[in-house]
Amino acid sequence: MPRALVTGCAGFIGSHLTDSLLADGYEVVGVDCFNDNYGRAEKEANLAAALAHDAFELHVADLARTDAAALLAGCDVVFHLAAEPGVRTSWGARFDRFVRNNVVATQRLLEAARATPEKRFVYASSSSVYGDSERLPTSEEATPRPLSPYGVTKLAGEQMCRLYHANHGVNAVALRFFTVYGPRQRPDMAFRRFCEAAAAGAPIKLFGDGRQSRDFTFVADVVGAVRAAGSTAEGAGAVYNIGGGARVSVNEALGLLAEIAGRPLDVRRSDRESGDVLHTGADIRRAREDLGFEPATDLRAGLRAEYDWALDRGERQAALAL
Ligand code: UGA
Repeated sequence: MPRALVTGCAGFIGSHLTDSLLADGYEVVGVDCFNDNYGRAEKEANLAAALAHDAFELHVADLARTDAAALLAGCDVVFHLAAEPGVRTSWGARFDRFVRNNVVATQRLLEAARATPEKRFVYASSSSVYGDSERLPTSEEATPRPLSPYGVTKLAGEQMCRLYHANHGVNAVALRFFTVYGPRQRPDMAFRRFCEAAAAGAPIKLFGDGRQSRDFTFVADVVGAVRAAGSTAEGAGAVYNIGGGARVSVNEALGLLAEIAGRPLDVRRSDRESGDVLHTGADIRRAREDLGFEPATDLRAGLRAEYDWALDRGERQAALAL
């Protein structure tokens, strides 16, 4: 039975990856520090199915401090998804956490990986490394110019993978995810907030004029890309864009959500947030060629899945409060 290490296993993408690996017969060693960026109960709920599985082993640990070598031992592949996330929250005093959880933690794992460099090491990077791209869709050849402190730390982690490959032969590959969405999405992210507000008939806070656009990517497609990157020998030391296949404005996404929810949305505009880029768009040719990556979920289907999940979750919580 193959054995995978998944860091950030209780998070949005990490929990979906864990479920997918377990469903296909992997043993999964999951690590999470239950960072306080949002509630522990929600992260535990993300792991509910995995925790009931015999092939799943949970380690509650801080990757910047723990014995990384012990975690890696016996695992055939490493999926490093743990991170301090959030573009708009990375200013000010919290930056220390971004450095620690995105840069130091990655360096510790890569150091441990030097003992078995042939082991595949998949790092979750971010479209935020590009900043305001000069060209859309953006290829991996574009010079990264992050616009947020968060983007700087994700880029540093990515560069760390590249240099551990160049100097020590670590079989690392970095995937630049473009605004991932779907059930279990983080509570600070746009679609999660929009879906919950739409389901409850509550106001939606729009940062800026809504003409900013994103290459929104459905979580199941991202999981497929991560697994493909974990099981091929292609691209050691390389980076890959993982995008949803279409660039959509926030206004267009809100229009679609109103149709899905079957009601007009109460949208209230506020100022644009610093660190927020205007547009993202992924040129996915490299991932298509090397990883066989092809996004399969269009925005309407993906947003419906997230809306249905948010609606269901809201109803369950309301029932519990009674
Ligand atoms: C997202 C993730 O949050 C990052 O962790 C990730 O690294 C990044 O994608 C990525 O592509 O790599 P972001 O694109 O800002 O960042 O994702 P959303 O939170 O979905 O925001 C999309 C847009 O909606 C932004 O312009 C944001 O300002 C806006 N927004 C967000 C609102 O108008 N209202 C809100 O309540 C939240």
